Amino acid sequence: MRIIIADGYEEMSNKAAAIVRSQVVLKPDCVLGMATGDTPRGMYKELIKMYENKEVDFSEVSVFNLDEYCTLSRENEHSYYYYMNHNFFRYINVKKGNTFIPNGTAEDIEEECRNYELQIKNRGGIDLQVLGIGANGHIGFNEPDINFEAETHLVELDETTIEYNSRFFSSKDEVPTTAISMGIKTIMQSRMLLLLANGESKADAIYKAVKGKICPEVPASIIQLHPNATIIIEKNAAKLLR
Ligand code: F6R
Repeated sequence: MRIIIADGYEEMSNKAAAIVRSQVVLKPDCVLGMATGDTPRGMYKELIKMYENKEVDFSEVSVFNLDEYCTLSRENEHSYYYYMNHNFFRYINVKKGNTFIPNGTAEDIEEECRNYELQIKNRGGIDLQVLGIGANGHIGFNEPDINFEAETHLVELDETTIEYNSRFFSSKDEVPTTAISMGIKTIMQSRMLLLLANGESKADAIYKAVKGKICPEVPASIIQLHPNATIIIEKNAAKLLR
């Protein structure tokens, strides 16, 4: 596991974008795994700048997102479908048919999960998966549990996640309580992982993920077992590591 400590959010974001760009330059038709939330916003902004400066071309790239809320339509501004289109896809030349986000309103969620796995396999698996981390140690929406869930599955969101994510909604009651998430096995099968973390609120989760016991109660701890994982930690999130 490579650990890079960044001096600030901008440095974390720029380094992450540089790694994504390298992946696309090395393999123009690569498969990227992407995350939503506050953490990767700066990375997306930087990647858009790189695209505008013709430093990266997404025309052959495929993108799979980690997760999506159940019950929110794709037009809902809180959906991750909306987030990806508004923060990233509409500014770059990725083909719409090459972007994949689980459909949280599918009639048959189990079938949707199976199809999602199949689509990832059909594209040859994920080359580079970008991850954020929850203050409770979740990755994707794999919440602390007594088991690791393997593949894409339906999750019940943790009370702490609902509370934390309520900042994007007008009230906590509006936050969906379930979601579809890539599972730990799917994430671990990515050829490279890039975990980003910033802010003091992530310091405890980062400490446990990097130095703690590998256990499903801290889902992110599994990345200690990944053969090609890089973690870029902004200094406040890294404060317990020193
Ligand atoms: C989002 C995701 C989540 C977030 C995590 C951190 O697609 O999979 O695991 O990465 O909840 O969220 P932020 O970045 O908002 O602190």
